[in-house]
Amino acid sequence: MATISRQVQLTSRPSGVPTPSNFAIVSVTLPQLGDGEVEVRNKFMSLDPSMRLLMREQAFHAPVYALNTPMSGRAVGEVVRSRSADFKPGDIVLSNHGWREGFVSPATDLQKAQLVPSLPIQSLLSAASIRGFTAYAGMMRIAALRPGDVVFVSAAAGTVGSIACQIAKIKGHTVIGSAGGPAKVAFLKEIGVDHVIDYKAEPDFGAALRKAAPNGFDVFFDNVGGSQLDAAFQVANNSARFALCGTIAGFNQDELIPLYHSNLTIVKRLRMEGFVVWDHQDLFPEYMRELSGWAASGKFKSKESIEVGLENAPAAYGKLFSGESIGATLVKLD
Ligand SMILES: NC(=O)c1ccc[n+]([C@@H]2O[C@H](COP(=O)([O-])OP(=O)(O)OC[C@H]3O[C@@H](n4cnc5c(N)ncnc54)[C@H](OP(=O)(O)O)[C@@H]3O)[C@@H](O)[C@H]2O)c1
Repeated sequence: MATISRQVQLTSRPSGVPTPSNFAIVSVTLPQLGDGEVEVRNKFMSLDPSMRLLMREQAFHAPVYALNTPMSGRAVGEVVRSRSADFKPGDIVLSNHGWREGFVSPATDLQKAQLVPSLPIQSLLSAASIRGFTAYAGMMRIAALRPGDVVFVSAAAGTVGSIACQIAKIKGHTVIGSAGGPAKVAFLKEIGVDHVIDYKAEPDFGAALRKAAPNGFDVFFDNVGGSQLDAAFQVANNSARFALCGTIAGFNQDELIPLYHSNLTIVKRLRMEGFVVWDHQDLFPEYMRELSGWAASGKFKSKESIEVGLENAPAAYGKLFSGESIGATLVKLD
């Protein structure tokens, strides 16, 4: 029997924060299975900030989303039918076929999921995913934490940020986190962040950062760029290391954000390194081992904000930028 599945298509390129008017929900009939193909019913899909860059006319890092075709993104699902020796019904799989309820694809598009026993299935798109691992690669390899480092993390209540904070705390560091709004401040205190800056409530971010880090900081894990990065130049200690992970402050605007204090990188001998997580996959097994141990001992919290139903995905996407969701923003699909 043919399966009907709904999918989200981008119908126009957003200006500013995407709204539901930029998307359409389209019903399609899934094709019959060919040899080597698998049918999957998605359970959760991920909404990632970097998808915003793919909604533009052009992106530096990947092909942009074509209009009026199904969008891509990470998803976790269950195999319902298979004509591949590698997968059987009931297998939990990861794919890049998010933004849709179900799909048929070659088995080669799928990856068997590696569940962490003490974490829920949705953590496959947050802590136990490449996004969670981004925090580990950035902290352990790019910033290369050293005993006694004071660590500053921006967008600290997001997926990457909240995991970066927890890794630094578990490794024994003093952590400063920035996030927007009282709910995020409370969450960061709950996961042990020592000093939290509500950047939306601070008219002078630099002054707030100086107050939170009176003796400066040694590591900056930056997810934001823009004015928070500019303030970090001023408060950083000499020879501080900056792990540059993201520039979300600029994702919804066409103009580049100026940096006024980049000269301090020279004066203070700062070491700045941008990184892309895919270059560090050799560390992934080590991260999954560490994560399993932290989760089992209760030291670690995986945080997701979950919307229900594909029809709510377009509106949920805007919440990444309005500050309404904490941790990973996911959509439950079954
Ligand atoms: N380098 C890599 O390989 C790699 C891999 C994955 C992700 N990333 C990047 O890492 C960053 C975080 O990703 P994520 O997966 O953690 O996303 P996420 O879970 O959606 O969290 C993003 C956070 O960004 C904050 N934010 C949104 N707009 C902001 C603005 N204008 N100024 C300051 N903060 C803002 C939001 O918190 P507030 O409410 O506190 O503003 C939100 O919690 C993104 O820039 C992403 O592109 C990089």
